[in-house]
Amino acid sequence: MSIRPRVPADFPAIARLLGAVGLPAAGLDRTEGRVCELDGQVVGHVAIETTPDAAVIRSLVVAAERRGQGLGAQLLEAAEALAGPRILVLKTDSIGPWVQRLGYQAVTLAEVPASVLATTQFEGSLCSGYPVFMRVPGAVMDPAVIKSAVRRRYGAIVAGGGGCCAPAGSGSRSSCCDSSLAAGYGPEDLAAAPDGANLGLGCGNPVALASLKPGEVVLDLGSGAGFDAFLAARRVGAGGRVIGVDMTPEMLARARELAARHGYANVEFRQGDIERLPVEDASVDAIISNCVINLSTDKARVFRESFRVLKPGGRLMVSDLVLLKPLPAAMRGNLDAYAACLAGALLKDDYLGAIRAAGFQQLEVVGESRYEFGDPTPEQVATARKLDAAITPADLEAASEAVASVKISALKPVPARAAGRVQVFDPAMCCATGVCGPSVDPELVRFSADLDWLRSQGVAVERCNLAQQPMAFAQDPEVRAALEAQGETALPLIKVAGQVKSLGSYPLRAQLAAWAGVAGPAASLYTEAVRELVALGAAVASNCEPCFKFHYGKARRLGVSREDMLSAVRTAQAVKETPAKAVLGLAERYLDPAPREGRLRATGSRRLAAKPARTCCAG
Ligand SMILES: C[S@@+](CC[C@H](N)C(=O)[O-])C[C@H]1O[C@@H](n2cnc3c(N)ncnc32)[C@H](O)[C@@H]1O
Repeated sequence: MSIRPRVPADFPAIARLLGAVGLPAAGLDRTEGRVCELDGQVVGHVAIETTPDAAVIRSLVVAAERRGQGLGAQLLEAAEALAGPRILVLKTDSIGPWVQRLGYQAVTLAEVPASVLATTQFEGSLCSGYPVFMRVPGAVMDPAVIKSAVRRRYGAIVAGGGGCCAPAGSGSRSSCCDSSLAAGYGPEDLAAAPDGANLGLGCGNPVALASLKPGEVVLDLGSGAGFDAFLAARRVGAGGRVIGVDMTPEMLARARELAARHGYANVEFRQGDIERLPVEDASVDAIISNCVINLSTDKARVFRESFRVLKPGGRLMVSDLVLLKPLPAAMRGNLDAYAACLAGALLKDDYLGAIRAAGFQQLEVVGESRYEFGDPTPEQVATARKLDAAITPADLEAASEAVASVKISALKPVPARAAGRVQVFDPAMCCATGVCGPSVDPELVRFSADLDWLRSQGVAVERCNLAQQPMAFAQDPEVRAALEAQGETALPLIKVAGQVKSLGSYPLRAQLAAWAGVAGPAASLYTEAVRELVALGAAVASNCEPCFKFHYGKARRLGVSREDMLSAVRTAQAVKETPAKAVLGLAERYLDPAPREGRLRATGSRRLAAKPARTCCAG
């Protein structure tokens, strides 16, 4: 197949192609054309009529028996190349949705350059009444174009009555889809939210992550139909408040209707962009967001806005998709891939860098998993190639391997002036980190980490050591007095805001926080119930029946549900069975009669490597 310049001898074949689909051939002599030739036959044609600042694309046609093979996209690309830097205009009543996905926008006649109105297709009655589309070169990934594509997609999901999870085998599963259970929600979460709020669009469970407390103010970025916002509302209770922000009117209408119908008095949904949050400065305790920020065209600004609206000490807890390696070029400029949470995703390091640059501290990736798409089906490959003929099955495989779902937490620090200065007077020692030569003092390691945490909360911390800075001890009247009274047993000595707070021991983090006047450390997730679930799993993994009975009893008394215990047992079982599966796989590879090289090529080495990893995560 080749795309080549049109010559006069091609006109009869072109006229036949146009006639077959009822397209006019009038004025073609005023155009420059390209034909698609296959086995010596002209099977496609496109032409442009140029003005100084624009190019009208005409007669884009492909023979009926050759459609669905990407020829149309290649012809359009050839026409765009011919047009150079000009604005592209197209009148069509059949391929409008297709060109819109490629960055063309529906416009009125008043919006096209004036010179276009003098071209053949616009001056007479040719195709009169047909919709007009326009593309400004270089603007395919224009933020406004992307935003309207994203809004259209999510509006359509609500209008279509549900989530984007297509039935199995339909070949149109979106990257945003996942089973909500697999995404980290418990059955009790799914039962608690109103029907119709969970559209299956998330890629994690940021509410669990946020460890929300009663009375807190929570902001959900890109709240969709309100699933996470409703779950958060239950956690913060009547004394707390949840604000959901979303730009898609259909999503907001669904969320507001559900809130009213189910009596959620502590939730409100505001229309707005997450890049310009309709929320006051320093008014929010925790921000949650689920599979949304990747869709923003200005992620750095989203994080700066998040920082602005959080109170000092407030937390950012998001689940999102990031890239572990760049996407294939063919997918980067594709609007459909953008709206499906793919093409807009940042490389993981860039994503974390944007959070840090906004001023957040204590940034932690608390969870990361490969985002499983499954291998592309032949229908998916065909659909993708209709959108962009350059996309290959290998591109789709590479794209699915590049995406990870991450859960990230970060804190907005407390400004230094809000807290009391902490001074630590250590006994004589060679270093205060707790790691000196071959020996490790766990107490000092813990205390050093607590001081780092205090600094991250904006507290000024000074530390001096009797062996290295004796003058600091001698010049401080309270420290000198303590040393004179108790000798070195007075050390370590801790002063906060000029007052001696403790002598002879290293205080705990919560105590330091209270003295310094900052919010205490977040409550630990390792509750008694979690400890019993871990113990149940360990009992299964170690085949210890009495241990299982003992911890089962304790878990029951703590009110742990049967489903949670089953999940713990299944996880333990999956971990336990992994080595056996791995060795069976190894045996299979060694004992396979087919020659190793040939078999690897036939099966695909990626799949051989990937399968055991998937079974490990089965729990
Ligand atoms: C993948 S859905 C996730 C919805 C919801 N968080 C959930 O888990 O069900 C993305 C949502 O973000 C919204 N959204 C995307 N970009 C946005 C932006 N820049 N400003 C506001 N909302 C946005 C969309 O309208 C859509 O409702």
